[in-house]
Amino acid sequence: MTRAAVFPGSFDPMTNAHLDVARRASTLFDRLVIGVLNNPKKKPLFDIDERVDLIRRCVADLGEHVTVDAFDGLTVDFAQRHRAGFIVRGLRAVSDFEAELQMALTNRKLAPDVDTTFLMTALEYGFVSSSLAKEVAQFGGDVGPMLPPPVAEALTERLRAGPRV
Ligand code: PNS
Repeated sequence: MTRAAVFPGSFDPMTNAHLDVARRASTLFDRLVIGVLNNPKKKPLFDIDERVDLIRRCVADLGEHVTVDAFDGLTVDFAQRHRAGFIVRGLRAVSDFEAELQMALTNRKLAPDVDTTFLMTALEYGFVSSSLAKEVAQFGGDVGPMLPPPVAEALTERLRAGPRV
């Protein structure tokens, strides 16, 4: 029996906390599909193709059993399309728990055959979030400890180029 999981998120952009969760999940599952949500209601800094491409570069060394795919709609539908029985989410702190519990219970109601598993983010990344990294970068701070090198580079470049219209 092979175990497959999806790791869904906005990933705008992928952080070291996300990468740490992806790395550890990649050792637990036979197949891991990182799902990048294409949410038309949100205006991300990086478009869907850029986010997928950045993640692919970050996870290139995790093995061929780790893939990246964009999705829209429900996470459970994405999981079922990929024949994955598990959803992986990272928990950084207790503050993440309430929203994650609500999502996990909603997903279980929608698809009882898809279970959510949580991985604790490594202590050194407990403070890291995509939105804070973007704010730090915007004001010229060092995002090196927060972001994988390709992402830090892309973010600096994007902010240097100015907002896109
Ligand atoms: O990185 P994020 O923004 O915390 O990820 C949130 C995400 C993408 C996992 C969540 O918003 C999601 O699953 N969206 C897809 C829509 C869905 O399935 N909603 C019902 C379950 S909450």
